[in-house]
Amino acid sequence: MARDPERRFAGLTRSRAAERPRPRRELAPYPDPTVVELRNVSRTYGSEPPVRALRGVDLVVNRGDAIAIVGPSGSGKSTLLNIVGCLDRPTGGRCLIEGTDVASLDEEELAAVRGRLLGFVFQTFNLLAHRTVIENVMLSEVYRGGDRTGRRERAMEALERVGVADRADFLPGKLSGGQQQRVAIARALTGAPSLLLCDEPTGNLDSANTESMLGLFDELVAGGMTMLLITHDESVAARMPRRTTIVDGRLSEHV
Ligand SMILES: Nc1ncnc2c1ncn2[C@@H]1O[C@H](COP(=O)(O)OP(=O)(O)O)[C@@H](O)[C@H]1O
Ligand SMILES: [Mg+2]
Repeated sequence: MARDPERRFAGLTRSRAAERPRPRRELAPYPDPTVVELRNVSRTYGSEPPVRALRGVDLVVNRGDAIAIVGPSGSGKSTLLNIVGCLDRPTGGRCLIEGTDVASLDEEELAAVRGRLLGFVFQTFNLLAHRTVIENVMLSEVYRGGDRTGRRERAMEALERVGVADRADFLPGKLSGGQQQRVAIARALTGAPSLLLCDEPTGNLDSANTESMLGLFDELVAGGMTMLLITHDESVAARMPRRTTIVDGRLSEHV
């Protein structure tokens, strides 16, 4: 379904929905505290032989939850993130995003949910190398189709929030890995997402930058951000208020 999931996650490919002007379906703010609800979710890839990548996964993410998912390579982490990130659908069970069953949505509607409700942060930052820091942040709004007025100001505010406003006019290559990841987080935050999905966000950072990134995550969590964070690093997971482990497609929560 997703040939280049990271670009689509980051909102860097224009969906057909974004190209064609049409009335936006404005939804009332969703009052329920539940952002994501997975019920008995399975995902079997129809390869030969079939691979049961997720088996009976239950997970409820409430507003303000910050949850780490730790698991070895091949355990189903990316499959789970693709489903929560509306890039893929379960083959069994139900995945509800703010009360909407993703099974009921077509491709355009899934893209709209991604743009409106989700922010994505990746191990490899995925910044455009030939665009300045502030352009990278502004572009995510361009692709999301938001209001032009105040776009630069909003991008600047997001950069201030993550502490890299003084690098706004630099190219990403001139920044440290930690600074680049802060820009990627600023980009994800401009849409005021209901949920921030982070796939190994410290995977390419040295220990000093990892520590500084964890400080930023602490601030986001304290500010009420809802986060789902995949990591190999137990010390990163330890900083998240809720911790889960995935092994062979089965998720369990540490209590
Ligand atoms: N498109 C696919 N087709 C067949 N098998 C896949 C596909 N994507 C992932 N898998 C398999 O599903 C399992 C879980 O993969 P994945 O979710 O990528 O794990 P992780 O992200 O934890 O490394 C692995 O055994 C992997 O080989
Ligand atoms: Mg993976």
